[in-house]
Amino acid sequence: MKALKRPEGNAITDPAKQSMMLAALYIAQEQKGYLTKEAVRQVAKRLGVTPGEVYSTASFYTLFRIEPVGKHVIQVCEGLSCYLNDGAERVVEYVSAKLGIQPGETTPDGRFTLETVQCLASCGTAPAMRVNDQLYENLTPASIDDILERLRGEV
Ligand code: FES
Repeated sequence: MKALKRPEGNAITDPAKQSMMLAALYIAQEQKGYLTKEAVRQVAKRLGVTPGEVYSTASFYTLFRIEPVGKHVIQVCEGLSCYLNDGAERVVEYVSAKLGIQPGETTPDGRFTLETVQCLASCGTAPAMRVNDQLYENLTPASIDDILERLRGEV
């Protein structure tokens, strides 16, 4: 089996610095929902690396976003357990229809971004989706309607 290889060139090799960068990027992303150019510059400055090195790390991990997202990032699980529990495609299609967007898109008002993910570690309560840091399990059309209605009502 071939090992996954990090991109060459801008990779940081110091494990301590790499570890600090991941923590710093996580905290920076919490501010705006994605890594702004200013956040990348600040992280680079604090760690004594170049912005290119920060982007290189950020782009390697799917956890980090370098493009703006909606206020509510909805991640629908497309993993096997969710698929077998009448979720996955059905939930993606339902949420897509409700919001008028496809996975990877953000609503014009900037409130919702829809993404698909492979597993939310909630296989026993599938189908599942996550909105920002909140996990929702045993999804049904009615529960999805409730979730979206509540999120639309948030200021
Ligand atoms: S497959 Fe959906 S939570 Fe694991």
